[in-house]
Amino acid sequence: MAIALTAEPGGATDHEEFPIDAIILVGGRGTRLRPLTLGVPKPLLPMAGVPFLAHQLARLHAAGVDHVVLATSYRAEQFCDYFGDGARFGVQLEYVTEAEPLGTGGAIRNVADRLHAKPDEPVIVINGDILSGHDLRAQLALHAERSAAVTLHLVEVDDARSFGCVPIDRDGRVLAFLEKSPQPVTNLINAGCYVFRREVIERIPTGRAVSVECETFPELLGADELLVGYVENAYWSDIGTPAAFVRASCDLVRGVVASPALPGPPGEALVMPSADVSDAAAIAGGSFIGERVRVAVNAIVMGSVVLDGAVIESDAVVRASIVGVGARVGAGAVLDGAVIGEGSHVGERNELVGGARVWPGVVLPPVSIRFSSDE
Ligand code: GTP
Repeated sequence: MAIALTAEPGGATDHEEFPIDAIILVGGRGTRLRPLTLGVPKPLLPMAGVPFLAHQLARLHAAGVDHVVLATSYRAEQFCDYFGDGARFGVQLEYVTEAEPLGTGGAIRNVADRLHAKPDEPVIVINGDILSGHDLRAQLALHAERSAAVTLHLVEVDDARSFGCVPIDRDGRVLAFLEKSPQPVTNLINAGCYVFRREVIERIPTGRAVSVECETFPELLGADELLVGYVENAYWSDIGTPAAFVRASCDLVRGVVASPALPGPPGEALVMPSADVSDAAAIAGGSFIGERVRVAVNAIVMGSVVLDGAVIESDAVVRASIVGVGARVGAGAVLDGAVIGEGSHVGERNELVGGARVWPGVVLPPVSIRFSSDE
C-alpha cells in the first residue's frame, strides 16, 4: 500500500505516493515485567487475545505501512514462529537479530540495509512496548511539511518528574533532551514513535551500542539539525510495567483505545472460546480470560489478565493482576496488583497485594485459618 503525504507548508498535498517502511524495536529484555518476560519477549506477551506486537502491526498497516523490519535480540527466534512473513497482518515482515544488544540507536542503524526508503524519504521507528492511539499519518505529514531530520511524537503527562522531557519552541522545534528532574521545565515527554529521514539513520555509528535518546538525538541537535515535536495527547501507554500492562490490556478490551487486532467487539470482558467460566463468577473491568482458563463459582475477576490454562478457584478475588499461563489461584485467595508466574500455585486464602510477584513454578501453601477456640 502507498500513502500520500502533505509535503508543502500550509497543508497542500503534493500527491506524491510512496510505500512506507517501519522499524519496530523489540530486542529489550523487558526486566520490569519479570517474571512474565523470563521466557517470552515483552512484545510477544498476550494482550487482549493476541501478542502485543499484533496491535502495533495492525496500527501500522492501518496507517499505510507495508514493510516492517523487526530489530530483535532477546529471544529473537520466537518472533518469526508467530508472525512469519507478515502476510496475515498485511505487511511484509523482515527480521534482523543482533548478536549483542545494540541499544535503541544501534538497533535502528543495524537494520538500515533492509529499508526500501530513498535517502530523503521517511522511516517510522517505534518502541515495541508503546500502545498509542495517535494519528501516525498526521505525524508523517508534519515530518514532510517541515522537512525534519526526525519528527518525534511527544505526549503531555501530568507529572513529568519520572521522565526525561523534551521542550519545544512555538514552532515545534525540539530545543533539548533533558534528564529526569524534580522540577521539569515541560510536561512533554518522548512517546517512543519517531519518523526519521532515512539518510539520518545511516549517520548512526555502526558496530557498537548506541542509545537514540541519549546519544543520537542530542548529537543531531548539536549539529543544528531540525528535530520537530509532533504533540498529540491521544491515548498513550508504555506497557513496560505490570500495572501499565494490565491497564493497557483492559483499555483494549473495553475499546478505550481502538485496535484492529482485537479479536472481538469491545466490552467489559474478553473471554476466549475454550474458557470455562462459572455462571456464578463475575468477570468485568476489561478483564481478559485466555484459552482453557477455568473460573470457578463465586470467583471475581476485575480488570485483570488471566492467561491460557490458568485456574481461578471458587471465591477467589483477582483484581488488577496478571495470572500467568497454567497458574492456579486457590479458593478464597485475594490478588490485587499481583503478577503470578507461569505454572505457579497460590494456595487457598493467600493474599498477595501491591505489586507482589510470584516466580514461575512456585507453590505457596494454603493459609490455614485458626480461630482462638481451636487452640
Ligand atoms: P526494561 O528492561 O523493562 O526497561 O525493558 P526494555 O529494555 O525492553 O525496554 P526499554 O524501555 O528500555 O526499551 C524501549 C524499546 O526498545 C523496547 O521496545 C525494547 O524492546 C527496545 N530495545 C531496548 N534495547 C534494545 C536493543 O539493544 N536492541 C533492540 N533491538 N531493541 C532494544
